[in-house]
Amino acid sequence: MKTVSLIAAGLLCASLSTSTLSADLTAGAKAAQSCMMCHGENGLSKMPGTPSLAGQPETYLISQLRQFRDGKRHNEVMNVIAKPLSDADIDNVAAYFAQFEVELKRH
Ligand code: HEC
Repeated sequence: MKTVSLIAAGLLCASLSTSTLSADLTAGAKAAQSCMMCHGENGLSKMPGTPSLAGQPETYLISQLRQFRDGKRHNEVMNVIAKPLSDADIDNVAAYFAQFEVELKRH
């Protein structure tokens, strides 16, 4: 029983890290520079109406960027920004913002 759960945990780790490993974080960091004027430094937004990207799940960022690009999610600004992005561009920039861990503290 113990062996089975260890193997399962190993498989889970392997599958969780796959997408990040295939993404190019250097390219993602470069692309992310143009996002930060709206989404904030390192993707932590201070602008009303603009969500934070830092620490959001990679799969969520990828799906939202594809939806903006493909016109399935509507926002005047993001539709224009996402339009020229390839799947690889999206994977890279999503991996960049997803790599941050956001800590919550109650005041
Ligand atoms: C000119 C300002 C601006 C720039 C530059 C910009 N964004 Fe956005 N972004 C927005 C706004 C505003 C929204 C909120 C859209 C909405 O309300 O649906 C948004 C939403 C998003 C979302 C959805 C987040 C969520 O929580 O659902 C993602 C993902 C995103 N942007 C990624 C990016 C990336 C990646 C870049 C750079 C390549 C970028 N944005 C550049 C303004 C900007």
